[in-house]
Amino acid sequence: MTPRIPGRRLLHSPGPTPLPDEVLHALARQPMDHGDPRLDEHIARCEAGLRRLLQTEAADVFLYAANGHGAWEAVVANLLPRARADGSGPAVLIPGTGHFSESWAVQTEGLGRRVVRTPWREGYPVDPAEVEAVLRADRGHDIQAVFVVHTDTASSVCSDMAAIRAAMDASGHPALFVVDMVASLGVQSMPMDALRANVVLAASQKALMAPPGLAIVAVDAAAFALAERNPEPRFYWDWRLRRSEVSYRKFCGTGPQNIIFALDAAIGLIEHEGIAQVHARHQALAGAVRAAVGGWREAGELDYFAVEGARSNSVTTIRIAPELDIEAVRTVARERFQVAFAGGLGPMTGRAFRIGHLGDQNPAQILGTLAGIQAALQVCGVAHGDGMGPAIASLAQAA
Ligand SMILES: Cc1ncc(COP(=O)(O)O)c(C=O)c1O
Repeated sequence: MTPRIPGRRLLHSPGPTPLPDEVLHALARQPMDHGDPRLDEHIARCEAGLRRLLQTEAADVFLYAANGHGAWEAVVANLLPRARADGSGPAVLIPGTGHFSESWAVQTEGLGRRVVRTPWREGYPVDPAEVEAVLRADRGHDIQAVFVVHTDTASSVCSDMAAIRAAMDASGHPALFVVDMVASLGVQSMPMDALRANVVLAASQKALMAPPGLAIVAVDAAAFALAERNPEPRFYWDWRLRRSEVSYRKFCGTGPQNIIFALDAAIGLIEHEGIAQVHARHQALAGAVRAAVGGWREAGELDYFAVEGARSNSVTTIRIAPELDIEAVRTVARERFQVAFAGGLGPMTGRAFRIGHLGDQNPAQILGTLAGIQAALQVCGVAHGDGMGPAIASLAQAA
């Protein structure tokens, strides 16, 4: 038998994130029959709460038994017809943010759709001028939509959605604006209506503090109308079929009821704390992590991955010296100091590590995590400056 871990292991991957006790308790309930009005109430509360988080009055909120990749597929299936056999025709523009923009592009192409990319510069956010230039050059308006990853969880780069919206407007192009908030809904303000984002997607397992398994897609009237004109066959993902009062139809079958109970409880906790306060808490905790990295980097082996001004409040990616064995550091941190953090992903594998600081997190957890990581760096002989003093100072100032 594996020995019991005393206390709690701190989970700091950028999703899934730890579940609050209230959410765990909400999970531990018996399922309901499809006609039980209490089930409808849970779903309606989730939809209304998500609308408040997204700051939208009228968008349809579709919930799928799926993960973030499912939300991506839902958007592609509904909005985009397949490319013509010669590779021309309808397309989507996916500006490069890193691993996640590229994964979405690959999935979109896998579904037979045409993708136009802008290049990705490591550590840099989306360049709105590039988006504008690509849209201006698309005189035939083949591009149906721009798919933007708000926070790329691999690079921890956060792009400026208002600047991208302004660039789209300046181009005069009618493409829809589709925003992936999988890693940032519940971390930062998302004014869907004010931003005129046509579709926003998210998933249950990150800052929303619920278990993995629920994909969230909010759709405005313009996006719904484009989907209605899209002749491509689809069924499970089809927004037209899911726009129903009947819960069985909303989910194209049996919904993931216990995850819905959990999400309902989690949204209740977010609203009880206050959405603005939740955002401010994420800002303060992210500031402490960034301050720690500012200390660690002084010895020259570690550095910020994202450029200043584009660093996410959800996750921090830390670039490492090429000779550094980050897996050894992760093992020591997890097994000896009970801190689980993430390695580099995609093109950053072996070149970076990531600290998630989103969801049900508080200063003590963040300080414990940073201390556990610093202790693991010390055990593994990785040269580093002190991150703890700056992290404490940052939190003291934020309070
Ligand atoms: C920004 C972003 N989009 C999409 C995804 C894909 O989500 P999932 O792993 O739930 O399929 C992730 C996962 O981490 C993500 O961070």
